[in-house]
Amino acid sequence: QCLNPTVFVIFGGTGDLNMRKLAPALYNLYSDGYMPKDYAIIGTARSKLTDVQFRNTIMEGVNSFSRAGKVKKEKWDGFAENVYYNPVDVSAPETFQDLKTSIEKLKKKFGPKTQVIYYLAVAPNLFPLIAECIAKYDLAGNEENCRIVIEKPFGRDLETARELNKLLTGIFTEKQIYRIDHYLGKETVQNIMAFRFANSFLEPLWNRTYIDHVQISVTEQLGVGDRGGYYDGAGALRDMIQNHILQLLCLIGMETPINFDADEIRNKKVDVLKAMRPFGPDDIRMSTVRGQYSKGWVEGKEVPGYRSEKDVAPESNTETFAAAKFFVDNWRWQGIPFYVRTGKRLFQTSSLITIQFKDVPHQVFPAGVTEHWQQNRLIISIQPEMSIRLQVQAKRPGLDMVLNPVDMVFDYKGTYSAEAPEAYETLLLDVMIADQTQFMRADQVESAWELLMPVINAWESKTSLSFPNYPADSWGPEDAEALIARDGFHWFTLP
Ligand code: BG6
Repeated sequence: QCLNPTVFVIFGGTGDLNMRKLAPALYNLYSDGYMPKDYAIIGTARSKLTDVQFRNTIMEGVNSFSRAGKVKKEKWDGFAENVYYNPVDVSAPETFQDLKTSIEKLKKKFGPKTQVIYYLAVAPNLFPLIAECIAKYDLAGNEENCRIVIEKPFGRDLETARELNKLLTGIFTEKQIYRIDHYLGKETVQNIMAFRFANSFLEPLWNRTYIDHVQISVTEQLGVGDRGGYYDGAGALRDMIQNHILQLLCLIGMETPINFDADEIRNKKVDVLKAMRPFGPDDIRMSTVRGQYSKGWVEGKEVPGYRSEKDVAPESNTETFAAAKFFVDNWRWQGIPFYVRTGKRLFQTSSLITIQFKDVPHQVFPAGVTEHWQQNRLIISIQPEMSIRLQVQAKRPGLDMVLNPVDMVFDYKGTYSAEAPEAYETLLLDVMIADQTQFMRADQVESAWELLMPVINAWESKTSLSFPNYPADSWGPEDAEALIARDGFHWFTLP
């Protein structure tokens, strides 16, 4: 690809996100030949660092976190000579003047086609301040030459998300705003659209006539680690369901787009969110579950309960587990439950989407033949295994007629030799080529908040909870099992 010259400005340059994700992604893009011929990366933060110190800092990040392992000296030197550091303190807006001078110098050097990308890898309370400084110093450019990338969380409720959208769209046009949801950059997540819309056999089955229910399960073995300060004010519903999980649900639930245009795809996704059944008080009681982990043993080591984690209030009622049953009220999905669950300190790290099909309309085989019977399932495993499995019945070899379920498996490892890029590589490249398909539009973010607000409000108004209610290394609270068992199903897991 022939990309326009690009200046990447990373706010939060010395922060965790840049170390773990952005710098490794940019370096890997460079190593694989995807960076523009002319580019510069300017890290900004409050600390006073030289370019060389900053380059060394991010090299440590790349060495520790890149999928491709440690940097190769020659490549790194080529990459790092375009990396600069510019201290910026948002509480002293005049420091933006220096940044402006640096950007302008680079624009002059690279020519009139230069595009500037601001990446806000900072705490959300700084989003408005930085956006305002960008405006004040006349750095917001236009649709062709300037973009802004906003990390999650995008607001902490509907009202704050609306406020932030209002502020941003007062400075930038919607086409300049890239609200990132890193799940959308995952290889297996992007493949959902390919699988659904590039194959003809699925579409006739993809509806309430043939599908029994859908499960989306994103479970993590890790606890909150050192992110307690952020997480304690968020919780699992805001941290995972409002964004990643609802986006997965949209990909499963959306209608067929007429083409691959960013807005066409996002229109179809937002239609799903708008069709989702609002939660009334009874639904919240019957169809949602929250939980919090207590201490437990993981691989022979004792791990603390959530309330004893760093930067977490000792009496915290923040949920580290959330499950819910959703419905999409439209022709395709009427009456079909979408069960979702997510949580920390669970038994397995696994992101799975399971589509369970309805049973055969009439059983042809006698009892005995069907004792291992299992309705057909399509299992999209996002991580750590990257695969799509179709569970079908087959005759077990032998003289007797015995049926048992077997998996037809598309497994990335066995099919492709190339390593999948990291989500951030895909998404950063998309920003550079101005493709908004995998980014959240303002109405998507707001619709997702709108759907969840009744649950958030109800959960926050009830403070006497029997938390913690699940031990570390379990599958979460018993109520989550009951939520799905009441309808005659169970949470599907891969062995
Ligand atoms: C982040 C959440 O958005 O996604 C984290 O804030 C969570 O709490 C993470 O652990 C999960 O992402 P991944 O890519 O590891 O599945």
